[in-house]
Amino acid sequence: MERTLSIVKPDGVGKNVIGEVIGRFEKKGLRIVALKMVKLTKGKAEGFYAVHNGKPFFKSLTEFMSSGPCVPMVIEGKDAISRVREIMGATDPAKADKGTIRRDFASDIERNIVHGSDSPESASFEIQYFFNSLEIH
Ligand code: RTP
Ligand code: MG
Repeated sequence: MERTLSIVKPDGVGKNVIGEVIGRFEKKGLRIVALKMVKLTKGKAEGFYAVHNGKPFFKSLTEFMSSGPCVPMVIEGKDAISRVREIMGATDPAKADKGTIRRDFASDIERNIVHGSDSPESASFEIQYFFNSLEIH
């Protein structure tokens, strides 16, 4: 069993597809073990995406991620990290496979609906960034 962090980003909340995103994970047998809705401050978004600090898209990414509420969740299952990323699709929705969340709902490389941890190290950092042990079930 593995755990990963996913987030329905502010564009996904705005497009009213929170349930659709969660449903796609659940239909593949993955289990939601923690869930909340939060509005990040700019500073909290910068801390979350600290690995991208210095990249050309950092300012715009963190402004977008703090522009409205988002829905972080912890997802558990066999190979959860890679399976969640498969279900999400490629970062750029134009390059994402048919039937993925980003291909179906995202409008561009930045407003791409959903986040998923990319390694066990990033998953453990990202899970504790949003949830304490009493909030994970
Ligand atoms: P995420 O971390 O959100 O799950 O996305 P990812 O792994 O597929 O992509 P990553 O390289 O980690 O980039 C993080 C987020 O930054 C935005 N981005 N914009 N304008 C650009 O060229 C660009 N590149 C990345 C996207 O919102 C991406 O999801
Ligand atoms: Mg990433």
